[in-house]
Amino acid sequence: MKIAIGADHGGYEYKQEIIKHLTNFEIKDFGTFSNDSCDYPEFAKQVAKEVAAGNYDRGILICGTGIGMSICANKFKGIRAALCSDTFSAKATREHNDSNILCMGARVIDLPLALEITDIWLNTPFSDEERHKRRIGMIE
Ligand code: RB5
Repeated sequence: MKIAIGADHGGYEYKQEIIKHLTNFEIKDFGTFSNDSCDYPEFAKQVAKEVAAGNYDRGILICGTGIGMSICANKFKGIRAALCSDTFSAKATREHNDSNILCMGARVIDLPLALEITDIWLNTPFSDEERHKRRIGMIE
């Protein structure tokens, strides 16, 4: 599975830890590359465009709250970005929404939980159930 990852300064440290943690995946880091203040839409746009184009299977976006990243990513056709702060939602959004971008807030959840959410989200398949497929079709 190919993963595109991005963060702003608020999510930079978590991005680095997630990259270190995901040893079994092919990951491309779209930045930011330091703690310097920067603009989250820039990174949301890059990752969302790559996932929407099919160049990457999934995306992960981290900012302070995860909210700015999710608002931006969901502007792109074909993107279903899910802001998750708990493991139940991480599993459910894969099974029900077939979400293709995971957003998290580094100022909202601690790192071990962020890693756990990431693992669950990456390893949970879409349910493929008719009712969920219908609802996803309605989004588009
Ligand atoms: C940056 O200070 C902060 O606004 C950003 O990381 C994010 O939380 C926006 O939604």
